Amino acid sequence: MKTPLPLADVYAVLEPGPVLLLGTAQDGRANLMPMSWHCMLEFEPPQVGCVVSAGNHSFAALEATGECVLNVPTVELAQQLVGCGNSHGDHLDKFARFGLTAVPSTQVAVPRVEECYANLECRVIDRQLVGRYNFFVLEVLKAWHDPTVTAPRTLHHRGYGKFMVAGEELQLDSAMR
Ligand SMILES: Cc1cc2nc3c(=O)[nH]c(=O)nc-3n(C[C@H](O)[C@H](O)[C@H](O)COP(=O)(O)O)c2cc1C
Repeated sequence: MKTPLPLADVYAVLEPGPVLLLGTAQDGRANLMPMSWHCMLEFEPPQVGCVVSAGNHSFAALEATGECVLNVPTVELAQQLVGCGNSHGDHLDKFARFGLTAVPSTQVAVPRVEECYANLECRVIDRQLVGRYNFFVLEVLKAWHDPTVTAPRTLHHRGYGKFMVAGEELQLDSAMR
């Protein structure tokens, strides 16, 4: 069962740099694509930068609607994630193909992926670098998480289809909040 995640805590979800499933929707068709080129830009309201290649179907939807959901998968979804990255959403319903559950969002007309442990509903707030770098700046409007997942085993792409899985944690005396 997902519960709202305070916006101030969104940074801790994205700080480790997990591969995300970028959700978009256009003309009633929802789509998903793995995305690892993203970064935090601001704590609160949370702002996130991301590169979406213009050759991807997701680019057109994000450009047209200005809305998306950043879904955060864990290792259990590794095969589905790679499947979404090996296909294009213009002729394929990836939710149906990969057995993922679409649940309505509250702030955007893009469904969230139920199986992902966290979901961030976003809108595009800056397109200045889209033409040059395919770089979108997003603001997180609403965040959800599964509060029972305290140490998510997220996926981290090392390149060429090789992934690391988040595991060991160290709690150090860091001044970073
Ligand atoms: C681990 C992984 C990370 C990826 N990261 C990105 C990314 O940051 N930006 C991007 O444009 N494509 C990225 N891709 C490629 C897209 O996910 C892929 O081209 C996908 O088929 C696009 O789907 P679409 O055409 O339905 O949008 C990544 C793929 C994988 C497997």
